[in-house]
Amino acid sequence: MCGIIGCTGRETETLDVLLHGLDTLEYRGYDSAGVALANGTVEVCKREGEIDRLRAAVDPAMDGPVGIGHTRWSTHGPPTDENAHPHTDCTGDVAVVHNGIIENYDELKAELTAAGHELESDTDTEVVPHFIEDALADGMSRDEAFRSAVARIEGSYALAAVFAGSEAILATREGSPLVVGVGDDAAYLASDVPAFLEYTDRVVYLDDGEFARLESGSWTVTDAEGRLLEKSISQVEWDAEETAKSGYDHYMLKEIHEQPRALRKCLRGRVDELTGTVDVEALEGLTAESVQFVACGTSYHAALYGAQRLQAAGVPAQAFLASEYATAPAPVTEGTLVVGVTQSGETADTLAALRRAQARGVETLAMTNVVGSTAARDCDRTLLIRAGPEIGVAATKTFSSQVVACNLLSATLADRGDSREIVQALRDLPGQIQEVLDASRAEAVAERFVDSDGYFFIGRGHQHPVALEGALKMKEITYKHAEGFPAGELKHGPLALVTGRTPVFAIVTGTDEEATKTVGNVKEVEARDAPVVAVTDGASTVDRYADAVLELPETEPCVAPVLANVQLQLVAYHVANKLGRSIDKPRNLAKSVTVE
Ligand code: F6R
Repeated sequence: MCGIIGCTGRETETLDVLLHGLDTLEYRGYDSAGVALANGTVEVCKREGEIDRLRAAVDPAMDGPVGIGHTRWSTHGPPTDENAHPHTDCTGDVAVVHNGIIENYDELKAELTAAGHELESDTDTEVVPHFIEDALADGMSRDEAFRSAVARIEGSYALAAVFAGSEAILATREGSPLVVGVGDDAAYLASDVPAFLEYTDRVVYLDDGEFARLESGSWTVTDAEGRLLEKSISQVEWDAEETAKSGYDHYMLKEIHEQPRALRKCLRGRVDELTGTVDVEALEGLTAESVQFVACGTSYHAALYGAQRLQAAGVPAQAFLASEYATAPAPVTEGTLVVGVTQSGETADTLAALRRAQARGVETLAMTNVVGSTAARDCDRTLLIRAGPEIGVAATKTFSSQVVACNLLSATLADRGDSREIVQALRDLPGQIQEVLDASRAEAVAERFVDSDGYFFIGRGHQHPVALEGALKMKEITYKHAEGFPAGELKHGPLALVTGRTPVFAIVTGTDEEATKTVGNVKEVEARDAPVVAVTDGASTVDRYADAVLELPETEPCVAPVLANVQLQLVAYHVANKLGRSIDKPRNLAKSVTVE
């Protein structure tokens, strides 16, 4: 949801650093992009469209010791050159980039216009450089002027500004992420660490309400009154290689193939095969009478799975869509634990739900992939899923890692001591995912059904979240209609949509009652001429009714959903690829959704 990059102190290549940073941040928004470089003057170049359009338009000679860049996901005003960031004041000496929403911008804009300022865009952001301009004209220093402009705005923001005649970047955040990168001679600023990871892995995480000043490799952080704050430097564990495509056509495909490694990392040092115990440092001493998960999108599907696992372990648990929970939270008791499942740790809906829970005095846990993210810093505890950076907008490996993390949480809270079977199944999972990746016939299935009118996904119990996730992946990257249902629900309405041109993906593992009933539902579908794709370990009779089969290795029923999901990720990927879709950056979407 908009990406910010900044760099100061490099003797050369500031522009290259900004453009490279924008490439890395493009998953946050990609409808327009721009850069501003400051020397004696401020030079701005910005373009509607993807970053390559900006790259083609920008004068390669444009350079300077300090610059900021932005990739946009529109909130106020359509994607046009004028609405792209950076925005400048009337003099052109101040340039500002922004991620977030300024809620009171209507009244601020009216005030500025009445005072004679000329605003050129439809954006909320543009008010900021004009307020800075006024404050500078009143004789304030640049830092004071920046703070005074920020004091006028309400909403959520990460902001950065550069000035003619200065090598400093001034920045602040409130509800949107911003992190400082500490280089030897240069300092960096970004919405997300991978944007500058090639140059430094030492970072300072800014907190809400803090102001950073970066200049020629030095950095300071102050409060809103300009008082110096003590901040520590953290070392980031990700390396730049993890953020590269490494020979894959798309990040999504790379990330699907990274799942075995991601799960091994998630489990490392946390499970003991010999004793069958789960021991997660971050969860030490944790108890809960009941658990409420809050999450969005793919993370919500993992949360649904997590709630099922806890219920099965005897801990009352429910999963809520964070956007709903934030306005109508479920009742809590003293022993309720609220778990925010969020890959980015920055999803505004999930953060709002967690804050709602905190306001009611209950313990909160962030289950996230990003160290230092807002969720990680706001919650009482953090369980890192350790999936490594995920760049493709469609979440893949983080779902699998969240599912594994949910098992760690449920084993901890159920406190059974010996969880031998589940520990073994988790340890086997990376190898089994590799088997699926090596032998998958998903591409052939995609080829066969690429022209279908729509796709349905059904599953029961633990496979229900996977049915929802399979459909979400399919719709977000292929732009085709797809729906997931609990298998038993199909006959209560959606069956009316099933035709010979709507393949139904049925996820069936094992031979228990759940499997037998789902096979019954498959027969109902088959009787209506719909092609059936069975995603199965072959234990039941489902393949008799299937037009195509995607095979799964046998495992514990509770971890089989991860394997089934890998097959569905691959089907969605190949359908999207055959349709020529923008797989890593699907239209209208952004990786990190920082508005409610
Ligand atoms: C789908 C997808 C989104 C995210 C959702 C929550 O592929 O990526 O549905 O899962 O926006 O994001 P996080 O997990 O960052 O809170």
